[in-house]
Amino acid sequence: MQLSVDNLIMPFFVVEGKNIKSPIKNFPGVFHLSIDKMLKDIDEIKKLGIPAVLLFGVTNKKDDVGSYAWDKNGVVQNAVKKIKQKHSDVVVITDVCLCGYKSDGHCGIMRIKNEKLKMKNYGIDIETTLKYLSKIALSHAGAGCDFVAPSAMMDGQVKSIRNILNKNGFDNVGIFAYSAKFASNFYGPFREALESYPKFGDRKSYQLDYANTSDALRKIKQDIDDGADIVMVKPALCYLDIIKEAKQKFNVPIAAYNVSGEYSMIKFSASKGIISEKESVLEILTAIKRAGADLIITYHAKEVAKWLKQEN
Ligand code: PBG
Repeated sequence: MQLSVDNLIMPFFVVEGKNIKSPIKNFPGVFHLSIDKMLKDIDEIKKLGIPAVLLFGVTNKKDDVGSYAWDKNGVVQNAVKKIKQKHSDVVVITDVCLCGYKSDGHCGIMRIKNEKLKMKNYGIDIETTLKYLSKIALSHAGAGCDFVAPSAMMDGQVKSIRNILNKNGFDNVGIFAYSAKFASNFYGPFREALESYPKFGDRKSYQLDYANTSDALRKIKQDIDDGADIVMVKPALCYLDIIKEAKQKFNVPIAAYNVSGEYSMIKFSASKGIISEKESVLEILTAIKRAGADLIITYHAKEVAKWLKQEN
């Protein structure tokens, strides 16, 4: 068993504008990039042999329903078109969620509008949420992505998205499902990147309890039954047992998301000389693969690809 560059997926945070490369708080080495800058990075990624990218749109055009997320000329839609024009062979995966586009920072539409009740019962209006998530997925497919990656953890999201894609002739667009996504403490730098901290409450009503295994496996099974092509466990490090069980039980590729907090912990420790960045990253990613992940989404992807090249 050996970690290989084919296993890696590189995430990008794309912003509108030109010639922008700006740092993100608590996220060393990761940047907000305008499309032109992202394309430069993708040239490099291609040379390094990294096969796939995962795109997140970053915007201040936020509203109550997240409508910019399905804008045909939105930043993700434009980024997909540009990548495909230049590098048709780079696999493009797009994140499908509302949290980066809604003013309240939640991944779904809230049923409870009363301010006082909100804190106690931030119930989700599932029907409306699924309708919007499907619109987003359809707009990404229309732009030419290879996979959509629904990450909102809303019941039924894979089924609704598969339906709308098929109805519109996008049978060939795959679903890369964030199936087992835990309510984790390791998403901090990512939320800085998207400015998507929930403005009230938390995400525990729709993300999984980290003490629970069976819910995660049930969610994965449901997503596969609903048409997911690849299923994901997220985060990776604290959930190697879930990755392993999923790999043993199911017959689809398993992806693991080495998330922003996991990444930054290593970066900060390495910058203080506590650990070696190269050795610890290789150990962690190899362990994630050993547990059963076929694909690993990681902000370390470029460095890892370089290290793997040196070693061969
Ligand atoms: C939510 C989403 C999250 C991440 C990706 N999509 C987590 C969240 O805010 O709850 C986290 C990724 C990371 O930390 O690297 N749609």
